Amino acid sequence: MELMEGLLSRRSIRKYQDKKIPKDILEKIIQAGECAPSAHNTQPWHFIIVEDKEKLKHFRVMQRSALFAENAAAVVLVCVDESESFRRDKEGWSYEDIDGAAATMNILLAAHALGLGGCWCGASPMTGPIAAIKEYFGLPENIRPFSIVVLGYPDETPKPMPRHGEERIHWEHW
Ligand SMILES: Cc1cc2nc3c(=O)[nH]c(=O)nc-3n(C[C@H](O)[C@H](O)[C@H](O)COP(=O)(O)O)c2cc1C
Repeated sequence: MELMEGLLSRRSIRKYQDKKIPKDILEKIIQAGECAPSAHNTQPWHFIIVEDKEKLKHFRVMQRSALFAENAAAVVLVCVDESESFRRDKEGWSYEDIDGAAATMNILLAAHALGLGGCWCGASPMTGPIAAIKEYFGLPENIRPFSIVVLGYPDETPKPMPRHGEERIHWEHW
């Protein structure tokens, strides 16, 4: 799929066929995540690939808007390392979530390009899901779950989402 076509046609997919994703396809998707840009090239991410049905079912307990993970083929849990990110604690900022978002978006687009459907479900910044996921997957202290990317072969074809368009586009000044 041509990149621009992929960007314009991607939609969140929440219904999936009962079909496994081949390992080489999952590996390609992760490779796309790893190729995302990151502040100061810190690449502060880890990816947990989940295919086990019981674990997929448990996402509804940890983040209830991700309940459809129970019918998915896989979840890629994008995690960020708070100790590795580009940050200035004294000034109160850090980049790991922005880097995590870039990796998440690359994963979604790669999935779409490879004939899969996916949906970004939030983990950060929601304290409840963060704590539940950290405990369930045994994440170290410095690692925080950022997003739950639910994946599978699509079993729905959502219509294009209306976009704001012209009124949000500003040339040269507001
Ligand atoms: C940060 C973030 C968190 C999201 N969390 C959820 C979620 O928990 N559950 C869900 O069904 N969709 C979630 N979505 C998907 C959005 O609902 C979806 O992207 C939006 O409605 C636009 O639709 P589209 O992706 O088809 O263009 C999330 C998207 C983002 C970017």
